[in-house]
Amino acid sequence: MDAIRIYGGKSLDGQTVVQGSKNASLPILAATLLIEGTCEIENCPDISDVRHMQKLLESLGCRLEREGTLVRVNTLGFSAHDMPSDSVGVMRSSLILAGALLAKTGQICMEYPGGCVIGARPIDLHLKSLRLMGASIEESESGFCAEAARLRGAVLHLPFVSVGATENLILAAVLADGETVIEPAAREPEIGALCEFLRLAGARIKGAGTGRLVIQGVEKLSPVRYRVPADRIVAGTYLCACMCAGGRIFLKDAPVSHMESVLACAESMGASIVCEADGLLVAGRAHESVCDVVRTACYPGFPTDMQSPFMVAMALSGRAGRIEENVFENRFRVVSELCRMGADITVRGNVAYVGGGPLHGAIVQAQELRGGAALVIAALAADGTSIVTNRHYIDRGYEDIVSSLRALGADLELA
Ligand code: EPZ
Repeated sequence: MDAIRIYGGKSLDGQTVVQGSKNASLPILAATLLIEGTCEIENCPDISDVRHMQKLLESLGCRLEREGTLVRVNTLGFSAHDMPSDSVGVMRSSLILAGALLAKTGQICMEYPGGCVIGARPIDLHLKSLRLMGASIEESESGFCAEAARLRGAVLHLPFVSVGATENLILAAVLADGETVIEPAAREPEIGALCEFLRLAGARIKGAGTGRLVIQGVEKLSPVRYRVPADRIVAGTYLCACMCAGGRIFLKDAPVSHMESVLACAESMGASIVCEADGLLVAGRAHESVCDVVRTACYPGFPTDMQSPFMVAMALSGRAGRIEENVFENRFRVVSELCRMGADITVRGNVAYVGGGPLHGAIVQAQELRGGAALVIAALAADGTSIVTNRHYIDRGYEDIVSSLRALGADLELA
């Protein structure tokens, strides 16, 4: 079955190594299309979203090979043609190829990446900005075709911050003719990693990590070897698991400098946190919480990807609180499943009002990646046995979550 059976009530103990960042790896894999030759990407997580991106690149003629967490991408066989439509709809991150393909080949036809349960996931910011860079874009019911002999630099003022649009526009701008300004640009660490990778390859990018990126187009980029940073959302997920199940764990390689808002919230919920040079030590349960409001925001605010896991910690703490989701319009789908486990949560608009209280085991359904991870965390802390179905959603972003949690003392198995 595509599920996980979890016997709740065991606390966690031990060390786990935090995998490489999914949301840095995906745009960096897309960026290899801009580079002729072989790039080597270290610490690239072996998760289904990355495997899917690897298939997309192979469908474009690239040759990829994996040795542990090292992925080599040889683009010498790359030839632009319509991407297999059965690939694009499955994963939103395929949209990230649009900027790179347009920059490299001058043409792309792509189906709309499609929404998902957390929101409609429109791409209007991407298309409007690519038009300003000289692309002619025809839209249809199911998708779009874009053409540009050579993209030209432009001043791009976005109406609000978009991680994906920032990434796509960086990839469109690094080989464009002239200077591109992106403002406001997303400041997420994954944007910084993408810019670092591209600068190593010869791109001219200023302002990474600030809200304003200035990119001077260059003629060519060269192959590089780059190590992807650890995944701050996976680290935050295991932090939450320890807060909820109790115990004491060390998260090796956790990128603590990129987790400030998450760590502050965890401490206000009663966790004890010690930042070490090579990771993060976490102990204690969510209890006597003084954190009664969590508001999601763009980086460096509290990450929307941490909202569902922290909802579980809030539900288990001794105190009622509320969670405001300000990034996606429908990111409370996990609430109904948590309520089946005894959680006391009501949703009004973009606010979830979370009561305190114990959870009990139940059969629950993952409906997307981070909500699925939240259900696993809830089951670890619940009294009794749970089954979390639709495990494939969780496998999109977490490397072998069952083995990792079992190694930390949790009692769970594939079902
Ligand atoms: C990225 O999604 C991440 N995905 C998401 O992580 C993350 O939650 C999100 O950024 C916010 O941090 C990857 O990096 C692969 P956005 P993205 O564009 O790029 C609206 C996970 O769990 N918008 O910053 O799609 C959009 O609908 C995933 O790992 C438009 O309206 O996020 C959303 O409401 C989930 N028009 C808001 O902006 C556009 O053209 C922010 O979206 C683009 C976006």
